[in-house]
Amino acid sequence: MKCKVGVISGDGIGPEIVREAKKVLDKIGRTYGHEFVYTDILMGGCSIDATGVPLTDEAIAQAKASDAVLMGSIGGNTSTSPWYKLAPELRPEAGLLKLRKSLNLFANLRPAYLYEELKAACPLRDDIIGDGFDMMIMRELTGGLYFGARETKEVDGVVTAVDTLSYNENEIRRIAKRGFDIAMKRRKKVTSVDKANVLDSSRLWRKIVEEVAKDYPEVTYEHMLVDNCAMQLVKDPRQFDVILTENMFGDILSDEASMVTGSIGMLSSASLNDTKFGLYEPSGGSAPDIAGKGIANPIATILSAAMMLRYSLDLDKEADAIEQAVKQVLKEGYRTIDIMPQEAEKRASVREVGTEQMGDLIAERV
Ligand code: NAD
Ligand code: IPM
Ligand code: MN
Repeated sequence: MKCKVGVISGDGIGPEIVREAKKVLDKIGRTYGHEFVYTDILMGGCSIDATGVPLTDEAIAQAKASDAVLMGSIGGNTSTSPWYKLAPELRPEAGLLKLRKSLNLFANLRPAYLYEELKAACPLRDDIIGDGFDMMIMRELTGGLYFGARETKEVDGVVTAVDTLSYNENEIRRIAKRGFDIAMKRRKKVTSVDKANVLDSSRLWRKIVEEVAKDYPEVTYEHMLVDNCAMQLVKDPRQFDVILTENMFGDILSDEASMVTGSIGMLSSASLNDTKFGLYEPSGGSAPDIAGKGIANPIATILSAAMMLRYSLDLDKEADAIEQAVKQVLKEGYRTIDIMPQEAEKRASVREVGTEQMGDLIAERV
């Protein structure tokens, strides 16, 4: 099969981790007889430097012409990079938000799974980890605070900044359905996370989720306030199957969930619309603190490529092959620095490798 893959390498560690994911895809291609044809697409800081804007119309057209897009990460150090002196709509992140909106990528799936082999990298106590956990964060991605009206104004010498959190019932219904659909293929439990004790948008969220739940009698569901959810994620992460939530809450909770799986470098993601198309990227960022050092963990990006095979290209057995290869490499004791065991005495039992070697090891085992 011939697959057209748009590739957004982006900024910081982006090009380093995307290179390894392409290496693994190419091995899949050779092993299973597929051809991945890549088109490089500019987005983020590198696009600002080249074109003056974080995402051009041409880049959007290139993404739309692809079967799926694989992405690294965009952005720089938000305190020191000159990109953050630009107007908000010209900054790197504005490119990513525009791409998500242009392609209607409203459903963001972030699977947080603790590999047996990574228990020593998990900061939680053994009795909390138990036999591990496996949750799917279903984050709404094209609404809420990220896309509401905003304004910074000065009145009588006092500056006020406003961001608006708005959702309509249709936006909530379509993501809720996705959440329940996914739950039906998993352990049939949905935890819908909101702040309905304070926010109108959350009260509407809760009402619509209740309506959608009626169509899924086999699914157990509950509502949880977001502050409690943040606490429960470290107190007892095993209670969660599908976490269904709005854009900003999902952004924050998914970073937290990633750390209980060992590292943000392990958390893959798929951003989907109503078609087969998807944007696949690690959940973490451009990691300016480690960019260029060859130590970033490429596994989240490699697992995102596996999600691309599964969701956009219908290549399930090839996706399985990547996931098995990742498991195998971890079993053999190879670790990037971010997933090294927390306790010093356990570090002697594993081998630290860099970004490129981790990519080689996984590709070899496909
Ligand atoms: P970050 O996720 O880039 O980094 C947070 C911490 O996690 C850092 O210590 C970093 O070294 C570490 N980390 C992240 N990915 C890693 C990996 N693959 N392997 C090992 N360690 C990893 O978050 P930040 O520092 O808050 O943001 C930096 C920039 O990234 C900002 O400009 C932000 O807007 C951008 N960002 C982009 C995306 C994206 O492109 N999807 C996501 C999040 C943040
Ligand atoms: C993510 C990132 C983005 C978000 C930023 C870079 C706009 O943090 O994908 O989690 O907040 O959605
Ligand atoms: Mn984030």
